[in-house]
Amino acid sequence: MESTEYQEVRLLKDEQPDSSDSDTISENISIGKSTSPRKLLGIYLFVAYLINLLLVVLVLVLLLSPRNCRDPTIGTLYSPAQDVIEYEVVSFPESTQNKSKYQGDPTTGIPTDETDKLWSELYLFGMKSWVDEPTARKLPNRTLALPDDPDKYLVQLDVFHQLHCLDVLRSLLWPERYRHKPHTDYYLPNGERNYTSSAAKHYDHCLEYLRKSVMCHSDISVVYYGYTEGGHGPSPQELEPHTCRNFEKVQDWARERVVYDLNWPEDWPQGRPPESAYSVLDD
Ligand SMILES: *[C@@H]1O[C@H](CO)[C@@H](O)[C@H](O)[C@H]1NC(C)=O
Ligand SMILES: *[C@@H]1O[C@H](CO)[C@@H](O)[C@H](O)[C@H]1NC(C)=O
Ligand SMILES: *[C@@H]1O[C@H](CO)[C@@H](O)[C@H](O)[C@H]1NC(C)=O
Repeated sequence: MESTEYQEVRLLKDEQPDSSDSDTISENISIGKSTSPRKLLGIYLFVAYLINLLLVVLVLVLLLSPRNCRDPTIGTLYSPAQDVIEYEVVSFPESTQNKSKYQGDPTTGIPTDETDKLWSELYLFGMKSWVDEPTARKLPNRTLALPDDPDKYLVQLDVFHQLHCLDVLRSLLWPERYRHKPHTDYYLPNGERNYTSSAAKHYDHCLEYLRKSVMCHSDISVVYYGYTEGGHGPSPQELEPHTCRNFEKVQDWARERVVYDLNWPEDWPQGRPPESAYSVLDD
């Protein structure tokens, strides 16, 4: 980016008609005599002017183009969804008194079937997406081809994994509602918890992963201090605006590429996919 700008500016300078060039031209013109030197110089200056104008427009387009300047994480590591990224300024509504539909029911405090459905609708379709072969070649890592469609490759955008982790941890807040969920060996029959169970390991992994993610994205939106009626003195207000990626655009990307059922071959040697099942990478 920097170097492009620099080059453009240099070009702009180089295009200025310098005095030696104009001298040569007027000499040639005076030999030809057919066109008036004034007229030729006028045309020359006009063309030079047009080229300058073009370059100025080019520099402006480069400077204002959001994909080039807004987010250095885009383009550093390729993501197949990088072209759908859009930014918007969002203030999160107050959510202690004014509960959103993703929180517990305002009366009972407990989530409902509707709450669970809304959470699932945030990310479930994004757990498995496909990309085509040219896209798979550009990824930072190799990935597996779909077993039934070797021209498509299986990926997941991390935001959906993170939301899944958050949803799993969410269920721990209300054991009376979620303890009977299938596949959990976390709760013992006597009501205690098994902290060495595989479910507990999963929960611990999710917490750690979200810690890393929050730090990785280091949201530097500024929380301001103020006074809340009925609160305990001045406190952080947490109503500040954030610069957000438009999540719906990312969801749309994944909705267009959902992978439903996967029938992995059962005859892989040692149960592991052969090299040929993986994408290759361009470098
Ligand atoms: C309450 O929350 C909803 C959804 O989270 C939001 O649309 C609304 O603006 C909030 N109202 C206030 C007064 O904060
Ligand atoms: C994935 O790609 C990154 C960057 O190219 C590399 O450092 C990492 O080792 C790769 N991981 C695997 C499992 O290949
Ligand atoms: C807790 O889970 C681990 C791993 O599955 C298991 O080995 C252990 O027996 C469980 N503990 C109890 C008290 O059931």
